[in-house]
Amino acid sequence: MANIAIIGGTGLTNLTNLTIIRREVHNSIYGEPSAPLVRGMLEDVEVVFLPRHGAGHTIPPHKVNYRANLSVLDELGITNVVAINAVGGISPEMTSQAIAIPDQIIDYTYSRSHTFFDEGLEEVTHIDFTNPYCESLRQAILVAAKAASVPVIGKATYAATQGPRLETAAEIDRLEKDGCHVVGMTGMPEAALAKELGLCYASINVVANKAAGRGDDNEITIEQINSNLKVGLEKVKRILEIVIKNI
Ligand code: HPA
Repeated sequence: MANIAIIGGTGLTNLTNLTIIRREVHNSIYGEPSAPLVRGMLEDVEVVFLPRHGAGHTIPPHKVNYRANLSVLDELGITNVVAINAVGGISPEMTSQAIAIPDQIIDYTYSRSHTFFDEGLEEVTHIDFTNPYCESLRQAILVAAKAASVPVIGKATYAATQGPRLETAAEIDRLEKDGCHVVGMTGMPEAALAKELGLCYASINVVANKAAGRGDDNEITIEQINSNLKVGLEKVKRILEIVIKNI
């Protein structure tokens, strides 16, 4: 039985190094997850892979059914979730193709179904979210990165924006003043929902571009994002191959 799930982000709709056992269609009371779950073997460890944006990368960040994705994984007995998220780099060390393991989040998203504690409650429920990510999994990722000789930035504050458009330069200035180091569109409510379910959840951020107003170019292009992701995700795959053995 797999107890590890990998949620793939932009550029990672399939794990090339995964030996697929089968694809499973699941449903939940919150609706359908982004895609059939892919059950397979990665380095002799059984894992479940779920492409967050759908098998054909068609679901934009604000339309992802985060509750369905997380509740289906939880119902299957998954206890550890490694999420992969493409980000823009805000602070100088967050250069294109860099990898960061965030330890904090600021949530700027809106109008997303962001909690399981919504209706039909016996009591109003507030979860602790002081540390949004599972520290033991974060540490396991850091150890795996070292073993894989992949340099990573071990702490970062992730700004979760609504998207699907990228930010203005002024918005990035504001996020930087708020203390954010990277910006992405999919980190929330995913992290909070995982915490509500008691899952051990951590994220690997791949810097796809310098955030708006931070790079040498005046504009951010999709070509630039895709080519940086291609290189960055190869590093992520090397980390994943090791971390799944250490969980
Ligand atoms: N902003 C928000 N999300 C992103 C970015 C960005 O610059 N790059 C990749 N995902």
